[in-house]
Amino acid sequence: MSEQQKVYPVKPEVADAAWINKEQYLAMYAESVNNPEAFWAEQGKRLDWMQPYTRVKNTSFDPHNVDIRWFEDGTLNASVNCLDRHLAERGDQVAIIWEGDDPNEDKKITYRELYHEVCRFANGLKKLGVQKGEVVTLYMPMVPEAAIAMLACARLGAVHSVVFGGFSPDAIASRVIGSDSRIIITSDEGLRGGKCVPLKENVDEGLNNPAVKTVEHVVVLKRTGGSIDWQEGRDVWWHELVADCADECPAEEMQAEDPLFILFTSGSTGAPKGLKHTTGGYLVYASMTHQYIFDYKPGEVYWCTADVGWVTGHSYIVYGPLANGGTTLMFEGVPSYPTHGRIGEVCDKHQVNILYTAPTAVRALMAQGDNVMDSSTRSSLRLLGSVGEPINPEAWEWYYRVIGNSQCPIVDTWWQTETGGILIAPLPGATDLKPGSATLPFFGVQPALVDAEGKILEGATEGNLVILDSWPGQGRSIWGDHERFVQTYFSTYQGMYFTGDGCRRDEDGCYWITGRVDDVINVSGHRMGTAEVESALVAHEAVAEAAVVGYPHDIKGQGIYVYVTLADGFDASDELRKELVKWVRKEIGPIASPDVIQFSPGLPKTRSGKIMRRILRKIAANETDGLGDTSTLADPSVVDDLIENRAIQ
Ligand code: WTA
Repeated sequence: MSEQQKVYPVKPEVADAAWINKEQYLAMYAESVNNPEAFWAEQGKRLDWMQPYTRVKNTSFDPHNVDIRWFEDGTLNASVNCLDRHLAERGDQVAIIWEGDDPNEDKKITYRELYHEVCRFANGLKKLGVQKGEVVTLYMPMVPEAAIAMLACARLGAVHSVVFGGFSPDAIASRVIGSDSRIIITSDEGLRGGKCVPLKENVDEGLNNPAVKTVEHVVVLKRTGGSIDWQEGRDVWWHELVADCADECPAEEMQAEDPLFILFTSGSTGAPKGLKHTTGGYLVYASMTHQYIFDYKPGEVYWCTADVGWVTGHSYIVYGPLANGGTTLMFEGVPSYPTHGRIGEVCDKHQVNILYTAPTAVRALMAQGDNVMDSSTRSSLRLLGSVGEPINPEAWEWYYRVIGNSQCPIVDTWWQTETGGILIAPLPGATDLKPGSATLPFFGVQPALVDAEGKILEGATEGNLVILDSWPGQGRSIWGDHERFVQTYFSTYQGMYFTGDGCRRDEDGCYWITGRVDDVINVSGHRMGTAEVESALVAHEAVAEAAVVGYPHDIKGQGIYVYVTLADGFDASDELRKELVKWVRKEIGPIASPDVIQFSPGLPKTRSGKIMRRILRKIAANETDGLGDTSTLADPSVVDDLIENRAIQ
């Protein structure tokens, strides 16, 4: 039997204890797509509404009028749902377990403490004039204050825009410009793998960009106490800001469709776009998926290893778990520090029940050999999750056998920044597992596969993955550019949401995501537009032209392969290679570091001047036998040169 056909049936004891078993899944799924109004009207009750909704679903994917509204006449506040409503029953329960980069540092914060900290900081932000509807930018390390700042914004009705702490000053600047932020919240430094990350310095440098005109204040959390520059009048210490603040703060009453946050993400063209997520539908969906897909039970310790700078951190470190009154673990460090045993040791130390991580982390551990986990038992684990990129069956099996001691179901969760929450994943008590497959759609989600013309394909087949109707967690727009939202997601296939992913469906109706079909690459689960990396490269004086493609990489899933044509007067050298890698790290951030740079006198182009990426992808992947027709190229000899001088990996 091939690896791909292997099935792990639901164990009866897991099904018995789970929120949802197979029969319930089938019945609820049918109801959710046949009668979405009634289904979601009921599910929406999982939140506390200030003004209950009477209208449930009002959505259109028609490209002439893309308009997505859920629970639109209801009002609520997200921070109230994550905090206030839990106080009576579980005020003294731990809400956040924080595990520091240094294994000797940790902290537990109860719901009551978190509530008061959020209120205090919200009052601090009020002193800086923060108002409902304005965008506040966060550039934070993985510390509880990141969640506190997000929830404080939500409390005031301000829209948070979290910028991943690994991004460069330029990336901060462009995101601040794109959202007109007045306030940036950051930290003196972050701490990862024993090294300091100069967060405040990056903010300072980003704000030096003369095009950044809106910033009035930078709120600085003291994390390491390292020395930083200080701009009097602009910069404010977090602890000084809140020193005289009350620990109660009334919550703004928000419309369900008022924005909760924006989050910038990469696409195949242009600059990263700020996806807009709103309050009611997003929170219903984050909370429901967290409960059912992770089969989360009260009192359990749940650990998602993502960074809050990504959507996974938003929905499954902060909003989902806290809306459910759960205990969420936040880890400041990296899995390899101080040793590769760290993930297991943290599981033992905090008795983690549910672990949610990325395939790239699993593969990096797997490369260390089975005894990498010898320093821990992980006996508290009950369920494992995977997210961010396709998990190869080999990594799945290793995750199951070594990390999970062959005891824990794995939920492979497929979703995107745009989707707000998980769309395709097994439910542990309902779905038989297949290593490498995200299996079946969540309630209300109607996936379909289409061919290049948009024709819907039936049965076991392969095609482009689209979603036929809206679900409550869906992103509503691109901040300040609704037309781009429509163009990007609803125009390729009229009336359908196009995911950008390719996918196979098997005889059982299970979905197997095969990866992006556009010019987006996925490096260690970090999503990147090849165009972004290219535009960073051509900004360097030595580069005349650059083309970037992904290639298969054992640990990262995809690596970054760069073809560069040099400008006159510059010669190929290892030094220049290093210089260009450094340049991209500075322009975008370390996650965009090229793995391979190949200098070449020319790039394969059509006669109309279009770069043939298909060919470049094949050469990068060392699949030079199947290059297909190259006769349409302006200069076919370019290809021979590229193959001959293929950079050794
Ligand atoms: C990929 C991350 C296969 C996919 C939540 C998607 C996956 C992109 C999976 C979104 C998975 C995410 N299996 N591929 N379980 N999860 N992807 O916006 O290509 O950072 O389109 O959201 O990651 O990345 P994003």
